[in-house]
Amino acid sequence: MASEGDLDRSAALVAGLSEISLRCDRCGTTIAAMCSPGRCSCGGLYEVVYTRPQAIDLAAFDQRLGRWEPLDRSGVWRYREFLPPLPSELIVTRPEGNTNLYSHSALSAWTGCADLLVKHEGENPTGSFKDRGMTVAISHARAVGARAVACASTGNTSASVAAYAALAGLPSVVFLPAGKIAAGKLGQAIAYGARIVQVEGDFDAAMQLVQAASSELDLYLLNSVNPFRIEGQKTIVFELLHQLAWEPPDWIVLPGGNLGNTAAFGAALEQLVRWGVLARVPRLAVIQAEGAAPFYAAYRSGFREMHPVRAETVATAIRIGNPVSYERARRSIEFTRGVVEIVSDDEILDAKAVVDRAGIGCEPASAASIAGVRKLVAQGVIRPGERVVAILTGHVLKDPDAIIAYHLAASERPFMNRPVTIAPSLAALREVLAHGH
Ligand code: F0G
Repeated sequence: MASEGDLDRSAALVAGLSEISLRCDRCGTTIAAMCSPGRCSCGGLYEVVYTRPQAIDLAAFDQRLGRWEPLDRSGVWRYREFLPPLPSELIVTRPEGNTNLYSHSALSAWTGCADLLVKHEGENPTGSFKDRGMTVAISHARAVGARAVACASTGNTSASVAAYAALAGLPSVVFLPAGKIAAGKLGQAIAYGARIVQVEGDFDAAMQLVQAASSELDLYLLNSVNPFRIEGQKTIVFELLHQLAWEPPDWIVLPGGNLGNTAAFGAALEQLVRWGVLARVPRLAVIQAEGAAPFYAAYRSGFREMHPVRAETVATAIRIGNPVSYERARRSIEFTRGVVEIVSDDEILDAKAVVDRAGIGCEPASAASIAGVRKLVAQGVIRPGERVVAILTGHVLKDPDAIIAYHLAASERPFMNRPVTIAPSLAALREVLAHGH
């Protein structure tokens, strides 16, 4: 028999989640938010639909900055009026977000963008922006009574799933493209105790498998097809606008892979405009790696259609050829009058070396943002005097092999910092220091 506590809890749940619903973005079918959301039977993805509140009190967000309660401390749940109303006792939070905005003369000089700010999402608990979506989705998984959770991943999602599932006391299964995961991420997923399934194939194959597995095997799917992931990732935009006193920049630049973040950013901006918080919309610039650029190709064709590609890039996080959030991301570009651009692996690695050398540091996929800013400035798309916020999506320690490969490469690279080995003598030391870098 259900105890009184259980009944209270389910009443709170129903009251909260009945305030929102899930609508398929393709056929418009609406389902209850108590469902465990996969794809709609038409193949579309669900989005969370809210009723517009009477008013949003922006001063409340400032007040929460001075409090110690976990939900106020979280750079996700601080903005809870914009998020699904989950009962606070079910929320699993580390807490996330609170990621800083940095400016640095070396980044401005290299990109040619004087007013460049970088928001470092690598400062999240597991070192990537994924934690923002994960706190919302794992809390929803608990609310709907999920028994186990799963995802396919190029690495960061799996690290985040593994950590949040462990915090929630749920078993997790992660599907990874075998041999294509950066060491830091694989290490995290193993350490946090996920069941690791390495799929002989690329991310896109792993993604297909996990979608089939989740409906057949009753696994709650934590990829960004899950609308609660998107809701959490919207807070990158909420927090960065809060940090800028709700004065929007001209551009927000981010890397694009599976396009969940692109979808989330557009959705966040639409919500803020609809709710009267924002009068001017920043333009989104999505940057893909040249060898993994189906969204760029679709953009260049006027979004007539998207053709999946076989993806290859040194930035393994965005080595994705068939992005699941294509339709949502297209809407984001259209809503924000955004652009999509590509950068080469060499440009990504040089940009990463510049970010690292500035003392900020990021993983390769994140540096696509910075390489993209440089390219868009050179093209005159980003104009002099415009304020740009570029998103660094992951921490420098995620991919140590990429650092070693760049700085110890046989051929010269522009920002190389090659370690030297010397005999243990002052003479040898004098000799190497005299030659500087
Ligand atoms: N940057 C990093 C560091 C990522 O890990 C990802 C995606 C992206 C950018 C691209 O974001 O998919 O929203 O367009 N990583 C996913 C993963 C796919 O499995 O960790 P997106």
